[in-house]
Amino acid sequence: MGSILATANNKRCVIWLGQPDARDRQLMAAVGWSVRVIGHDQVPQIGMRSNETVVACVDTRGLDATALAQVESLVMANPGLPLLAIVEPGTRMNPDVQRLLRAATTEVSLPLQTSALQRALDSCSTHAGFDDPGHDHSAADRLLGQSPAMLEVRARLHQFGSIALPVMILGETGTGKELAARALHELSPRANGPFIAVNCGAMPTNLIQSELFGHERGAFTGASTRRIGHFESAHGGTIFLDEIGDLPLDAQVNLLRVLQEGNLQRVGGSQSVQVDVRVIAATHVDLQQAVASGEFRNDLLFRLDVLRLLMPPLRKRGDDIELMANHFLGEFRQAHPATIARGFSPAARRAMAATAWPGNVRELLNRVRRAAVVAASGLITPEDLGIDIDNQATGGLDSARIHAEHETLLETLRETGFNVSACARKLNVSRVTIYRLCRKHGLSLEQLRS
Ligand SMILES: Nc1ncnc2c1ncn2[C@@H]1O[C@H](COP(=O)(O)OP(=O)(O)OP(=O)(O)O)[C@@H](O)[C@H]1O
Ligand SMILES: [Mg+2]
Repeated sequence: MGSILATANNKRCVIWLGQPDARDRQLMAAVGWSVRVIGHDQVPQIGMRSNETVVACVDTRGLDATALAQVESLVMANPGLPLLAIVEPGTRMNPDVQRLLRAATTEVSLPLQTSALQRALDSCSTHAGFDDPGHDHSAADRLLGQSPAMLEVRARLHQFGSIALPVMILGETGTGKELAARALHELSPRANGPFIAVNCGAMPTNLIQSELFGHERGAFTGASTRRIGHFESAHGGTIFLDEIGDLPLDAQVNLLRVLQEGNLQRVGGSQSVQVDVRVIAATHVDLQQAVASGEFRNDLLFRLDVLRLLMPPLRKRGDDIELMANHFLGEFRQAHPATIARGFSPAARRAMAATAWPGNVRELLNRVRRAAVVAASGLITPEDLGIDIDNQATGGLDSARIHAEHETLLETLRETGFNVSACARKLNVSRVTIYRLCRKHGLSLEQLRS
């Protein structure tokens, strides 16, 4: 077994002891830590460079004698090293591991969740008094999702956050483009500066220039005072140009000049004003096509489309749909304690998984809220959600498959005494898959075991 040294932008480093699978690696990347392998015969040299945070992560799944010896030598050689232990709930641990883990500062239980991992790593590094990047992760935290598609998005957010280049966010309506833009800002060195969101499609055409770049007193009828534009307001921070495809051509020319020269002129003014602004743009239209039809400038597209972030449609996010639905319902219940609905019926869960969600996360959010109001019992039905099950692709075969999967899972769990590893072996899938299937079918291992 090898041990793993993970680094993130040479700043945050976790020594991972165990065998991370592809998903573990994805999760690490999603919270901003990438992974490097070192041979198990090497005594790990911890590169304590200045402003580097180091955490050792002991993965107790399948920890063997060699790996255990390595953990011990690591701990002995680095007494102050914060330990993070990944533990499988309900499993009996080898006493040697247990003794070692008594020194562990933090535990994170399986199945690994990005938010739990992030919290655990953060508390480890804060505890050790190592450098804390000190970013406010609130928008990144609000961006829910554990699907591979969303893990990829999170990894990109961390990757792009620290780079000062423009980002183009693409995605259908309601996929979280604005939330992602906020997260990028908060993860960037500009986090303490302003974040200004501008909807390019919502400004009156004749006022766009003055809205973006400001105007001097008397610049036009009604300009009775000098006004600072969005670009100047975003100085030292980030400007988010939403629906950039809606920007008229003359404003595109001026935007290009600001991006090229780093300064602007207010409408009716002659002075150049220096601005230091990171630009994030978003669109749900095909800008290449807009370029082809002469509605969008190619040179501006080149300037804006440097780093690209793709927000996946909700229908590509698998179990995230249910995860988010539960979260939105929980939030609603907190705000409205009299709400009767406390969960989703199995039919509602199946219906949500099979719906195309053209309005994506925003549509899901609105449907859940409405369902929470109209539901007449504790469990929300497909009708409460306004989902027409008859019009869905879930034919007889699909529901038969889902039913068979549910039965097989439950039966095998029972046979193996609800031991996830044994159940995974028997069904020839990974433990992660078992956890996912349990979530999908609304099976709580804790409840089943008791
Ligand atoms: N991954 C997510 N987790 C939780 N909430 C989300 C997520 N993505 C989006 N939302 C919520 O969904 C709503 C729509 O998100 P947002 O406004 O960022 O989407 P958008 O892509 O900018 O939409 P539009 O194209 O219509 O401008 C917001 O209320 C946002 O908080
Ligand atoms: Mg938006």
